[in-house]
Amino acid sequence: MTRTVYVNGEYLPETEATVSIFDRGFLFADAVYEVTSVLDGKLIDFEGHAVRLERSLNELDMQAPCTKEELLEIHRKLVELNGIEEGLIYLQVSRGSDGDRDFVFPSEDTKPTLVLFTQNKPGLANSSAAQKGAKVISIEDIRWGRRDIKTVQLLYPSMGKMMAKAAGADDAWMIEDGYVTEGTSNNAYYVKDGVIVTRPLSNDILHGITRKAVLRLAEEAQMKIEERLFTIDEAKEADEAFTTSASAFVMPVVEVDGVALGDGTPGPIAKRLREIYLEESRAQAI
Ligand code: PDD
Repeated sequence: MTRTVYVNGEYLPETEATVSIFDRGFLFADAVYEVTSVLDGKLIDFEGHAVRLERSLNELDMQAPCTKEELLEIHRKLVELNGIEEGLIYLQVSRGSDGDRDFVFPSEDTKPTLVLFTQNKPGLANSSAAQKGAKVISIEDIRWGRRDIKTVQLLYPSMGKMMAKAAGADDAWMIEDGYVTEGTSNNAYYVKDGVIVTRPLSNDILHGITRKAVLRLAEEAQMKIEERLFTIDEAKEADEAFTTSASAFVMPVVEVDGVALGDGTPGPIAKRLREIYLEESRAQAI
């Protein structure tokens, strides 16, 4: 099916949607993005994603392409036009184009480029991948120092996924100065003796919208949480582990660098958090 996508004020068939070859998103990765999930045809945590987008834009002195209310309307219209019940909405804002290539930012009157498209993913909430759990490997984290800004500089995370694939795993956790930062496209956690351990927020990791919700729900469920640096060896000795992201919710991790965690199947805390998160998200979806 040909999707209807959104580009700079227009709803178009994906085959007719275009962006300039001089767009700074294309030439310099001078762009930020958000991925929002859809369940039951409704948006999960739209507000969280909209607030983080605003922060990413501010950090890069990039203009907002439109208001939050307009963004909500575009998201909803794309869900409707494409008949999405379960899936994702990808949004990208770039600094636009002034018709040439120049490292210097273009003048203030250059309009940002706004692109959104849907990804239909029936069965996202009930995914077989989550029932099986993910195997992760560890790789060095060689990304830039502002990972709190959700930029489209995703070459290294893509390479990380390919390294994982080549090693027969599903994903990679990145390590800097001996400590795990995060997954290629998710935040990372392990559980030992009932305590959930995850890296604290800083410029070193993306401030996950799912992370925030899951930590709040874990606290409400009286689970113990420690936000501190941790090593991959700690994760290998864990009872269980998991990741969080808008695209996979809470994903159990069953193997780290070839070492099976617990009995090698998704752990009870990850499974419980996934259930609670999905239930709460569906209830709050707009
Ligand atoms: N990735 N860390 C990184 C590096 C990410 O790319 C993501 C999200 C997360 C989780 O953030 P959130 O819970 O807000 O989705 C953490 C998205 C889903 C992606 O690139 O597709």
